[in-house]
Amino acid sequence: MFPETNVPLQALNTFGIAARAQTLVRVRSEDDLRAVLADPVLGPAPKFVLGGGSNIVLTGDVRPLVLKVELAGRRVVGETSRAWIVEAGAGERWHDLVAWTLEQGLPGLENMALIPGTVGAAPVQNIGAYGVELQDRFESLDAMDLHSGDVFTLNAAQCAFGYRDSVFKHHASKPGDFGLAGRALILRVRFALPRPWKPVLGYLDLERRMQETGIAAPDARQIFDWVCAIRRAKLPDPAVIGNAGSFFKNPSVTPEQCADIIARDPKLVHYPMPDGSVKLAAGWLIDACGWKGKTVGHAGVYDRQALVLVNRGDAEHPCTGGEVMTLARAIQTSVYERFGIRLEPEPVVV
Ligand code: EPU
Repeated sequence: MFPETNVPLQALNTFGIAARAQTLVRVRSEDDLRAVLADPVLGPAPKFVLGGGSNIVLTGDVRPLVLKVELAGRRVVGETSRAWIVEAGAGERWHDLVAWTLEQGLPGLENMALIPGTVGAAPVQNIGAYGVELQDRFESLDAMDLHSGDVFTLNAAQCAFGYRDSVFKHHASKPGDFGLAGRALILRVRFALPRPWKPVLGYLDLERRMQETGIAAPDARQIFDWVCAIRRAKLPDPAVIGNAGSFFKNPSVTPEQCADIIARDPKLVHYPMPDGSVKLAAGWLIDACGWKGKTVGHAGVYDRQALVLVNRGDAEHPCTGGEVMTLARAIQTSVYERFGIRLEPEPVVV
């Protein structure tokens, strides 16, 4: 365990925002973490857990101790009649895990190919794409309590998964409160990959590929390739243009609210949900307000997907977190003024 000081974070967040960590420790083993907790200075310090940095906006230097998760390992740990159980270290790259499971002949994660970030961050915001969410393939996870050093296991119900949400996104303000943000570090995650495998199609972009190619029964590898191609066409590669994926959650409204908006904007993109609510495409709302391709300072709205905010600066003059948040607030105001809907940011603002 080697604490590093005054560490540049620009390469450690996919937005490419320049900020520094006062102190950073790379966590490569449980022992590294135990050494941090036993340290008289670092042990009691407030902590910030950093995975792939793909879902954060840094608005300044990070004062809490940054724990950079680099826990490795991938293995098959079990087999039941209904699923293969695969375990991966929290520091593994998510996409590498998806590719590896397919190479092992264990399909099930293919719809979530190419999502940036790490395995440990995946349950935090319950990542999802093209009809599959992490919670649909989740078995359990092990985490370490950052106060006591105890390792505990959580099942799906205990993770309290919601749409881009979990217990790890909530802060507990008093003991006994719901919320593990800043209190626990995810060490490894286990996935249940269903047997027999069934493709998850039905998402418009995938249906379109099936029609174009004439492939009516794609295998998992084919779905993986399609999802990669769809994402590459729509979403900016963070290695080229800094971004944090979708910047806002897709909002839910009542059927009455939806009908009201459709009366004024008949082209509104909306999806009825099983619980009776209606989900709207935030990207469409932002696009309709004319934001696509706009730039404010060094922050901008991606020209092929209005839901993605991007860094239009360069390595020497990147956008700041402040510019991103100013742009985000301006977008929220215009969407609210036109549609009466409050968009909620998806990334964690630090
Ligand atoms: N749309 C527009 N203009 C835009 C963007 C979108 O009109 O600029 C319309 C599209 O035409 C489409 C609809 O909005 O009809 C939805 O767009 P899309 O299919 O691209 O999906 P999304 O709702 O924008 C969500 C997730 C993505 C995920 C995709 C595919 C959220 C916040 N985002 O995006 O997840 O990859 O579906 O499943 O739920 C992420 O969370 O970072 C992320 C990229």
